[in-house]
Amino acid sequence: MKTINMKTLSLQWITMGVLSFAACAQEAGSPKIDEGKIHVDRSGSGSLPVLSESKRKECMERGEEASSALMLNLGKQLKASMAGGDLMAAIAVCQSAAQPITSATGETFQGLSVSRTSLRVRNSDANRPDATDREILTQWARLSAQSQDIEPGIVQVSGTTVRYYRPVFVQEACLKCHGPVEFIEKDVRDFLAEAYPDDEATGYEEGDLRGAFRVDIDLDESVQPFE
Ligand code: HEC
Repeated sequence: MKTINMKTLSLQWITMGVLSFAACAQEAGSPKIDEGKIHVDRSGSGSLPVLSESKRKECMERGEEASSALMLNLGKQLKASMAGGDLMAAIAVCQSAAQPITSATGETFQGLSVSRTSLRVRNSDANRPDATDREILTQWARLSAQSQDIEPGIVQVSGTTVRYYRPVFVQEACLKCHGPVEFIEKDVRDFLAEAYPDDEATGYEEGDLRGAFRVDIDLDESVQPFE
């Protein structure tokens, strides 16, 4: 299984001209793009105010903190629900608790909201990727196919919002509910078919990229964008 070494986190920063903020955009220079493994190329469609290196670092830290909290909270719940060995009970807990835990975790951080997404989602109501998510996840899938490391990164999505992404990989414990279909118990398969008729989140192998933790950082409330 791939792990992330937090010490080697590199700072990645991309400004995206996805929305035009002409009023607050700095005139000088076009947005800097491709300073890391995440590359979002929307050049030419407007520019955004450029954040300082220290603010970008702060966004990375805030994202890392909030995504770690979500990972811990969901992990604890999964472990507890699977401890009794009753997979059907565990999956019912996942279905009912994953979203409340996700929003509650976000609420403990001022100006942040956390969520999860993937190119192949189970819960298409809550976790469906948007265009930016797709771009990031597609690049990560490419890196993953080339056995390259995937590192967390940030993307500026508007003049007031930065989004932090952190990869999630499949572990052995995930396979009971996300592994190859023939590997999943029939009861579980039936439950999934009923609860998530559009489920795309099976067929994974250990070590595969499953998706991302996503942290939306409101710059006005969480990280003051300018000194
Ligand atoms: C007991 C069954 C079960 C196990 C084990 C399980 N999951 Fe899930 N997973 C679910 C269900 C149910 C959902 C949909 C719940 C939701 O997010 O609303 C889900 C959703 C997700 C999502 C959100 C994206 C989506 O597809 O909707 C991610 C990411 C995810 N799981 C990763 C993992 C990882 C990584 C592991 C192993 C550490 C794991 N899961 C183990 C049942 C499970």
